[in-house]
Amino acid sequence: MSTQNSEGCRPNHDRIPFSVGAGEYKTAWNNVAESREHAFELVDESTNEEQIDASGAHHARYLVDGLDLNAKDIVLEVGCGVARLGKHVAPHVKEWWGLDVSERMAEIARDRCAHLPNVHLLAGSGSDLSALASQSFDKVYCHAVLIHMDKEDVYSYLVEVGRVLKPGGLFYFDVWNICHPVGWLRWQVERKLYATRSHRPPHRNQFSSPDEVRAMLAHTNLEVVQLAESVYVQTVATVVPEGRDAATYVAARRDQMPDRLALLKYGDGDAAGFAAVLSSRLLEFGIQPEL
Ligand SMILES: C[S@@+](CC[C@H](N)C(=O)[O-])C[C@H]1O[C@@H](n2cnc3c(N)ncnc32)[C@H](O)[C@@H]1O
Repeated sequence: MSTQNSEGCRPNHDRIPFSVGAGEYKTAWNNVAESREHAFELVDESTNEEQIDASGAHHARYLVDGLDLNAKDIVLEVGCGVARLGKHVAPHVKEWWGLDVSERMAEIARDRCAHLPNVHLLAGSGSDLSALASQSFDKVYCHAVLIHMDKEDVYSYLVEVGRVLKPGGLFYFDVWNICHPVGWLRWQVERKLYATRSHRPPHRNQFSSPDEVRAMLAHTNLEVVQLAESVYVQTVATVVPEGRDAATYVAARRDQMPDRLALLKYGDGDAAGFAAVLSSRLLEFGIQPEL
């Protein structure tokens, strides 16, 4: 006798409660951005405008130099939040576009960038870039965003960025690296945070691996230019122009800018900083950090 029902391995949706879907990100992040202070805190633990401005100026420098963002570039940030980075990237580029799932984040970002005429902000669905035309951006970046969603939606964004990026353009993104000791430590914190909850929130941190990133990219039109295995899996990818041999093109692209690309990688000092904060967090929970 077969134990399978007529649907094979498909679940019975009437009986099984739904987990998160793209719509839940919007509610969660709009709630996070109910006040500026709360938005700042959740974006990067800043407590006020001066702090977030300083952190944005510091981190934007790495993106500007690392991706060679310049006055000819039309640039997109996916998951721009309050434009912590965008406010400091926009003055270097022709146009800066910020997309976020949260209308409220986009509103705060609009207000913070009101003095910058080349800034465009929009709210998206949470899993696509359908408002944006194909092959319209020279550079795209996405920092600390894909870590907050299910893998289905991560992959949807990778496909979408492959669509909106111009051939030869560059795309930087990062996801937590569970294969790095500090990534593992971060995961222990996340497990502990939600251990006793019956529902895990849709904006929680999620974790990945270098192989998983490579596997996903292999099913897009993006080719890896650099994949750094730090606390994050930090990837720079490109779309190979039609008619060019992928391996030769990517190698040449990499060789054009080795010093710039190196700037985008977190170093041992950054990992040690993360480790110290995470270890004390785990100790607060009564857990001995595994390092
Ligand atoms: C930790 S913040 C980082 C913001 C910004 N990238 C930065 O570094 O300052 C994460 C941001 O991603 C946005 N976000 C989360 N899920 C998203 C999704 N599915 N689509 C687009 N944006 C999303 C949130 O609203 C939030 O603004």
